[in-house]
Amino acid sequence: MEHNIGQKTQGQEAVVKTEGPFIAQGSGSCLIESPLDPCAIVIMGACGDLTRRKIIRALFRLFQNDVLPDLFLIVGVDLNDMDTEAYRAFIKESIETLAGENLTEKDWNSFAAHLHYKSMDPESKSPYEELPGFLNEQFHDLHMPGNRLFYLAVPPAQYVNIIRDMGRAALSHENENRPGWSRVVIEKPFGRDLQSAQDLNRHIHQYFREDQVYRIDHYLAKETVQNILMFRFANAIFEPIWNRRYVDHVQITVAETLGVEHRAVYYEQAGVLRDMFQNHILQLLAMTAMEPPSLFEADRVRDEKVKIFRSLRPFPVGQLDNHLVLGQYTSGTIDGMPLPGYREEPNIDKDSLVPTFAMAKIFIDNWRWQGVPFYLRSGKRMAKKITEIAIQFKQVPNLMFRNVLDESIYSNVLVLGIQPDERITLTFQTKLPGAKVCLQPVTMDFHYSSVQEGTFLDAYEKVILDCLVGDHMLFVRQDGVEACWGFLSPILDACETCKDREQSLHYYSAGTWGPRRADDLMKDEGHVWRII
Ligand code: BG6
Repeated sequence: MEHNIGQKTQGQEAVVKTEGPFIAQGSGSCLIESPLDPCAIVIMGACGDLTRRKIIRALFRLFQNDVLPDLFLIVGVDLNDMDTEAYRAFIKESIETLAGENLTEKDWNSFAAHLHYKSMDPESKSPYEELPGFLNEQFHDLHMPGNRLFYLAVPPAQYVNIIRDMGRAALSHENENRPGWSRVVIEKPFGRDLQSAQDLNRHIHQYFREDQVYRIDHYLAKETVQNILMFRFANAIFEPIWNRRYVDHVQITVAETLGVEHRAVYYEQAGVLRDMFQNHILQLLAMTAMEPPSLFEADRVRDEKVKIFRSLRPFPVGQLDNHLVLGQYTSGTIDGMPLPGYREEPNIDKDSLVPTFAMAKIFIDNWRWQGVPFYLRSGKRMAKKITEIAIQFKQVPNLMFRNVLDESIYSNVLVLGIQPDERITLTFQTKLPGAKVCLQPVTMDFHYSSVQEGTFLDAYEKVILDCLVGDHMLFVRQDGVEACWGFLSPILDACETCKDREQSLHYYSAGTWGPRRADDLMKDEGHVWRII
């Protein structure tokens, strides 16, 4: 089938072909290929923030889009002493906020009928003892197989105990009493360094096989991030120039306007390198730099990403200053709003040396990327929320216009706008109309918002859907997690134990693009940030 979906760009129309028997949902989009297995979705931490703000809303939207199986139940598990009716009322509020006036009583009632709550005894040595019996009863009454998805929506410090208790209650077993799969979803951070990540993985594997584990990095579920692979590998024209011969350098920016918010305790332990680099930014880097997998299949894609992580050139820890800039925000303004500095935020140590900004110059030691710098930066309280990957191509080799042009020629740049402006732009030179030879850079612009077809899934909808389907493509594999920590841990060690820690922290005002040192490091290499 051929759909004309593109906006008109420079007189051209983008055309997309779709093929295959997709189950059309709502507007005829391709959400799932075949109906999902009946299952129980068990949320540990069912009264927490993550459940209310993200998970339940995502489940509700999937339900509304008719994607969830006919037979499913959602079982909230938490310490709060309440019954199913009270839990439904508690959850309804969150759905109302999402759906607003569009939430009809009929919609709510049909969703709520799938919701259950099981409170846990905090004093019990075996808190999940009753859960298998409860689930089996439901499976039996509904004539369902025993498929179970466990979502750990709890603080990471609780992972070890919860996984142990689940293992003891045989919740990880796939053939206990009733046949069916058992899967567990965990959120980052997966450890705080290589050692703790390895320990956590070993612990998980005492009870769950790797293929039962779904480690979420919500960046991978963003439409525009997934699209990087389609863009690179489903088009013939980019791949031949996607290498050190044509690419001068790559800039990856993940800038946020948000500050540390209510997460002081976590952030003081994490800082930007653990919070953003170990996961989201290295994943963006891998999607940009990886080799084409032989097949679009979960393990082959993840194999290629791990190869990138293993090819990252270790930082010379003795000369970190030439490769890494760390910063912390001080007070400033964003959109006219005065904002406090990091150290003035509630519950932050007044002398905190935790970085809220980092910029790293990274090299990938492989055939394709030898010598090409990848500049990565991320920070809180920056001037604008924006995530983008810019591929900066080399200058044309022979400046044949030098006798007629009095300015230098801009090199081509391809920008993959991840958020909030979801777009792809390519900048190239054209002749300015007129008798004199003048060039002007123009930009070919594709906006995701111009696509009329398809249903945009938010990142949580996408990850939950993939867990239910059993597709690991967007989840981080054990070796990937460990390879990323293997690269970052020596850097973190060096930063956190060095004597001049205070001097190596550069300050920037809230509402700017980070410390000046980050711009200078680029300039030292003859480069400038695209966004400043
Ligand atoms: C989270 C980090 O993983 O990602 C947060 O812990 C950060 O600190 C968030 O704010 C950014 O996500 P997004 O989707 O808003 O870019």
